[in-house]
Amino acid sequence: MLLRLDRALSSYTAISRSELRKKIRSGAVSVNGKTVRDETSRIDTGCDRLLLEGEPVTCGPLYVMLNKPAGFVSATSAPGERTVLELLPPSLRRKNLFPAGRLDKDTVGFMLLTDDGAFAHAILSPKRHVPKTYFVRACGMPCGGQDAFARAFSEGMLLPGGERCLPAEFALLSAERETLEARVVLHEGMYHQIKRMFSAFGCRVSYLRREKIGGLSLDEALAEGECRALTAEEIQLICTPETDKA
Ligand code: URA
Repeated sequence: MLLRLDRALSSYTAISRSELRKKIRSGAVSVNGKTVRDETSRIDTGCDRLLLEGEPVTCGPLYVMLNKPAGFVSATSAPGERTVLELLPPSLRRKNLFPAGRLDKDTVGFMLLTDDGAFAHAILSPKRHVPKTYFVRACGMPCGGQDAFARAFSEGMLLPGGERCLPAEFALLSAERETLEARVVLHEGMYHQIKRMFSAFGCRVSYLRREKIGGLSLDEALAEGECRALTAEEIQLICTPETDKA
Protein backbone atom coordinates (compact mmCIF):
# COMPACT_ATOMS: atom_id res chain seq x y z
CA MET A 1 0.00 0.00 0.00
CA LEU A 2 1.34 3.44 -0.97
CA LEU A 3 1.10 5.95 1.90
CA ARG A 4 2.44 9.39 2.64
CA LEU A 5 5.45 9.08 4.91
CA ASP A 6 3.91 11.11 7.76
CA ARG A 7 0.63 9.15 7.54
CA ALA A 8 2.44 5.82 7.59
CA LEU A 9 4.49 6.81 10.61
CA SER A 10 1.42 8.15 12.35
CA SER A 11 -0.43 4.82 11.85
CA TYR A 12 2.48 2.68 12.97
CA THR A 13 3.74 4.65 15.99
CA ALA A 14 2.18 6.46 18.95
CA ILE A 15 3.70 9.82 17.95
CA SER A 16 1.54 12.80 16.91
CA ARG A 17 1.56 13.97 13.27
CA SER A 18 3.07 17.38 14.18
CA GLU A 19 5.88 15.74 16.19
CA LEU A 20 6.50 13.30 13.34
CA ARG A 21 6.79 16.13 10.81
CA LYS A 22 9.47 17.73 12.98
CA LYS A 23 11.32 14.44 13.23
CA ILE A 24 11.13 13.83 9.47
CA ARG A 25 12.43 17.35 8.69
CA SER A 26 15.28 16.94 11.16
CA GLY A 27 16.49 13.82 9.32
CA ALA A 28 15.41 11.22 11.90
CA VAL A 29 13.67 9.04 9.31
CA SER A 30 15.17 6.83 6.65
CA VAL A 31 13.52 4.74 3.95
CA ASN A 32 15.53 1.83 2.58
CA GLY A 33 18.69 3.29 4.07
CA LYS A 34 18.26 6.86 2.74
CA THR A 35 17.29 9.82 4.88
CA VAL A 36 13.97 11.31 3.74
CA ARG A 37 13.10 14.84 4.94
CA ASP A 38 9.92 15.34 2.91
CA GLU A 39 6.86 14.19 4.85
CA THR A 40 4.73 14.12 1.68
CA SER A 41 6.91 11.53 -0.06
CA ARG A 42 5.19 8.18 -0.53
CA ILE A 43 6.34 4.86 0.77
CA ASP A 44 5.25 1.34 -0.05
CA THR A 45 4.28 -0.18 3.30
CA GLY A 46 4.51 -3.64 1.77
CA CYS A 47 8.22 -3.56 1.00
CA ASP A 48 9.96 -0.33 2.10
CA ARG A 49 12.17 -0.50 5.18
CA LEU A 50 11.39 2.37 7.50
CA LEU A 51 13.64 3.50 10.37
CA LEU A 52 12.74 6.17 12.91
CA GLU A 53 15.70 7.34 14.96
CA GLY A 54 17.45 4.13 13.96
CA GLU A 55 14.61 1.86 15.18
CA PRO A 56 12.68 -0.21 12.61
CA VAL A 57 9.00 0.70 12.24
CA THR A 58 6.75 -2.29 11.51
CA CYS A 59 4.31 -1.37 8.73
CA GLY A 60 1.11 -3.40 8.98
CA PRO A 61 -0.63 -4.88 11.99
CA LEU A 62 1.42 -5.46 15.12
CA TYR A 63 1.17 -8.43 17.49
CA VAL A 64 2.97 -8.19 20.81
CA MET A 65 3.54 -10.91 23.40
CA LEU A 66 3.75 -9.47 26.91
CA ASN A 67 4.62 -11.38 30.06
CA LYS A 68 2.11 -9.52 32.21
CA PRO A 69 3.10 -8.91 35.81
CA ALA A 70 0.58 -8.60 38.64
CA GLY A 71 -0.67 -5.10 39.40
CA PHE A 72 -1.44 -3.98 35.82
CA VAL A 73 -4.92 -3.86 34.34
CA SER A 74 -5.76 -5.18 30.86
CA ALA A 75 -7.16 -1.96 29.43
CA THR A 76 -6.07 0.93 27.25
CA SER A 77 -6.89 3.42 30.00
CA ALA A 78 -8.04 3.07 33.60
CA PRO A 79 -8.04 6.09 35.91
CA GLY A 80 -5.85 5.54 38.96
CA GLU A 81 -4.48 2.22 37.64
CA ARG A 82 -1.39 1.16 35.69
CA THR A 83 -2.31 -0.42 32.37
CA VAL A 84 -0.47 -3.09 30.40
CA LEU A 85 0.16 -0.50 27.65
CA GLU A 86 2.53 1.33 30.01
CA LEU A 87 4.86 -1.68 29.86
CA LEU A 88 5.53 -1.31 26.13
CA PRO A 89 8.83 0.24 24.99
CA PRO A 90 8.52 3.25 22.59
CA SER A 91 9.33 1.06 19.55
CA LEU A 92 6.21 -1.10 20.22
CA ARG A 93 3.80 1.73 21.01
CA ARG A 94 0.97 2.50 18.62
CA LYS A 95 -2.15 4.58 18.83
CA ASN A 96 -4.59 1.73 18.27
CA LEU A 97 -2.93 -1.08 20.19
CA PHE A 98 -5.17 -2.86 22.71
CA PRO A 99 -5.09 -6.03 24.82
CA ALA A 100 -6.75 -8.93 22.98
CA GLY A 101 -8.65 -10.37 25.92
CA ARG A 102 -8.46 -9.61 29.59
CA LEU A 103 -6.41 -11.01 32.41
CA ASP A 104 -7.31 -9.99 35.96
CA LYS A 105 -5.08 -7.43 37.64
CA ASP A 106 -3.46 -10.16 39.77
CA THR A 107 -3.11 -12.68 36.91
CA VAL A 108 0.31 -12.97 35.27
CA GLY A 109 1.59 -14.41 32.01
CA PHE A 110 0.86 -14.35 28.30
CA MET A 111 -1.04 -11.27 27.20
CA LEU A 112 -1.43 -10.50 23.52
CA LEU A 113 -1.65 -6.90 22.35
CA THR A 114 -2.53 -5.99 18.80
CA ASP A 115 -4.07 -3.34 16.58
CA ASP A 116 -5.70 -6.02 14.40
CA GLY A 117 -9.34 -6.00 15.49
CA ALA A 118 -10.41 -8.90 13.25
CA PHE A 119 -7.62 -11.12 14.57
CA ALA A 120 -8.45 -10.26 18.19
CA HIS A 121 -12.11 -11.04 17.57
CA ALA A 122 -11.22 -14.37 15.96
CA ILE A 123 -9.06 -15.58 18.84
CA LEU A 124 -11.51 -14.41 21.51
CA SER A 125 -14.73 -15.68 20.00
CA PRO A 126 -15.94 -18.80 21.87
CA LYS A 127 -17.09 -20.10 18.47
CA ARG A 128 -13.48 -20.34 17.30
CA HIS A 129 -12.43 -22.41 20.34
CA VAL A 130 -8.89 -20.98 20.50
CA PRO A 131 -7.70 -22.64 23.72
CA LYS A 132 -6.09 -20.61 26.50
CA THR A 133 -3.90 -22.64 28.87
CA TYR A 134 -3.38 -21.60 32.50
CA PHE A 135 -1.30 -22.75 35.44
CA VAL A 136 -3.38 -22.51 38.62
CA ARG A 137 -2.42 -22.70 42.29
CA ALA A 138 -5.37 -22.89 44.66
CA CYS A 139 -6.01 -23.33 48.38
CA GLY A 140 -8.36 -26.03 49.59
CA MET A 141 -9.31 -29.38 48.14
CA PRO A 142 -12.29 -29.53 45.77
CA CYS A 143 -15.42 -30.71 47.56
CA GLY A 144 -16.58 -33.94 45.94
CA GLY A 145 -12.95 -34.84 45.11
CA GLN A 146 -10.67 -34.25 42.14
CA ASP A 147 -12.58 -36.61 39.88
CA ALA A 148 -15.85 -34.73 40.36
CA PHE A 149 -13.93 -31.51 39.74
CA ALA A 150 -12.35 -32.75 36.49
CA ARG A 151 -15.73 -34.15 35.36
CA ALA A 152 -17.47 -30.83 36.01
CA PHE A 153 -14.80 -29.08 33.91
CA SER A 154 -15.14 -31.51 31.01
CA GLU A 155 -18.95 -31.44 31.03
CA GLY A 156 -19.21 -27.64 31.06
CA MET A 157 -19.51 -26.27 34.57
CA LEU A 158 -22.60 -24.45 35.77
CA LEU A 159 -21.41 -21.43 37.77
CA PRO A 160 -23.29 -20.04 40.76
CA GLY A 161 -25.47 -17.41 39.11
CA GLY A 162 -26.51 -19.76 36.32
CA GLU A 163 -23.82 -19.24 33.65
CA ARG A 164 -22.81 -22.42 31.83
CA CYS A 165 -19.14 -22.75 30.82
CA LEU A 166 -17.98 -24.48 27.67
CA PRO A 167 -16.29 -27.82 28.33
CA ALA A 168 -12.79 -27.18 29.68
CA GLU A 169 -9.81 -29.34 30.59
CA PHE A 170 -8.42 -29.83 34.08
CA ALA A 171 -5.21 -31.73 34.87
CA LEU A 172 -4.03 -32.02 38.45
CA LEU A 173 -0.27 -31.42 38.76
CA SER A 174 0.12 -31.73 42.52
CA ALA A 175 -1.93 -31.75 45.71
CA GLU A 176 -0.23 -31.22 49.03
CA ARG A 177 -1.43 -29.88 52.35
CA GLU A 178 -4.52 -28.02 51.16
CA THR A 179 -2.71 -26.57 48.11
CA LEU A 180 -3.33 -27.87 44.65
CA GLU A 181 -1.62 -27.02 41.40
CA ALA A 182 -3.30 -27.69 38.09
CA ARG A 183 -3.24 -26.91 34.40
CA VAL A 184 -6.53 -25.70 32.98
CA VAL A 185 -7.49 -25.13 29.35
CA LEU A 186 -10.42 -22.83 28.58
CA HIS A 187 -12.06 -22.17 25.21
CA GLU A 188 -13.70 -18.90 26.15
CA GLY A 189 -12.98 -16.01 28.50
CA MET A 190 -15.76 -15.29 30.97
CA TYR A 191 -15.25 -12.75 33.74
CA HIS A 192 -13.02 -14.22 36.53
CA GLN A 193 -13.79 -17.58 34.97
CA ILE A 194 -11.14 -19.80 36.56
CA LYS A 195 -11.53 -18.18 39.95
CA ARG A 196 -15.27 -18.73 39.81
CA MET A 197 -14.91 -22.34 38.62
CA PHE A 198 -12.58 -23.15 41.52
CA SER A 199 -14.69 -21.21 43.97
CA ALA A 200 -17.74 -23.27 42.96
CA PHE A 201 -15.87 -26.27 44.44
CA GLY A 202 -14.71 -24.44 47.58
CA CYS A 203 -11.16 -23.62 46.38
CA ARG A 204 -9.58 -20.15 46.31
CA VAL A 205 -7.15 -19.36 43.49
CA SER A 206 -3.99 -17.86 44.95
CA TYR A 207 -1.88 -17.69 41.75
CA LEU A 208 -2.88 -17.72 38.10
CA ARG A 209 -0.60 -17.58 35.07
CA ARG A 210 -1.59 -17.84 31.41
CA GLU A 211 0.98 -20.03 29.71
CA LYS A 212 -0.32 -20.44 26.19
CA ILE A 213 -2.76 -19.03 23.60
CA GLY A 214 -3.72 -21.51 20.89
CA GLY A 215 -0.53 -23.38 20.00
CA LEU A 216 1.83 -20.58 21.10
CA SER A 217 3.53 -20.71 24.51
CA LEU A 218 4.75 -17.71 26.45
CA ASP A 219 8.41 -17.13 25.60
CA GLU A 220 10.31 -18.19 28.72
CA ALA A 221 13.05 -15.68 27.92
CA LEU A 222 10.63 -12.84 28.66
CA ALA A 223 10.81 -11.79 32.31
CA GLU A 224 7.61 -10.44 33.88
CA GLY A 225 6.96 -6.99 32.42
CA GLU A 226 8.92 -7.69 29.22
CA CYS A 227 7.44 -7.97 25.75
CA ARG A 228 8.37 -8.44 22.10
CA ALA A 229 6.74 -8.45 18.68
CA LEU A 230 5.59 -11.85 17.40
CA THR A 231 6.94 -13.36 14.19
CA ALA A 232 4.63 -14.37 11.34
CA GLU A 233 5.10 -18.06 12.28
CA GLU A 234 4.15 -17.37 15.89
CA ILE A 235 1.00 -15.51 14.82
CA GLN A 236 0.03 -18.59 12.79
CA LEU A 237 0.61 -20.83 15.81
CA ILE A 238 -1.94 -18.88 17.86
CA CYS A 239 -4.67 -19.92 15.45
CA THR A 240 -3.43 -23.46 14.89
CA PRO A 241 -5.99 -25.96 16.21
CA GLU A 242 -4.71 -27.32 19.48
CA THR A 243 -4.62 -31.06 20.00
CA ASP A 244 -2.59 -31.16 23.25
CA LYS A 245 -4.56 -31.77 26.35
CA ALA A 246 -3.70 -30.12 29.64
N1 URA B 1 -9.74 -16.68 34.76
C1 URA B 1 -9.69 -15.82 35.82
O1 URA B 1 -10.35 -16.04 36.82
N2 URA B 1 -8.88 -14.76 35.72
C2 URA B 1 -8.11 -14.48 34.65
O2 URA B 1 -7.38 -13.48 34.65
C3 URA B 1 -8.17 -15.38 33.57
C4 URA B 1 -8.98 -16.47 33.64
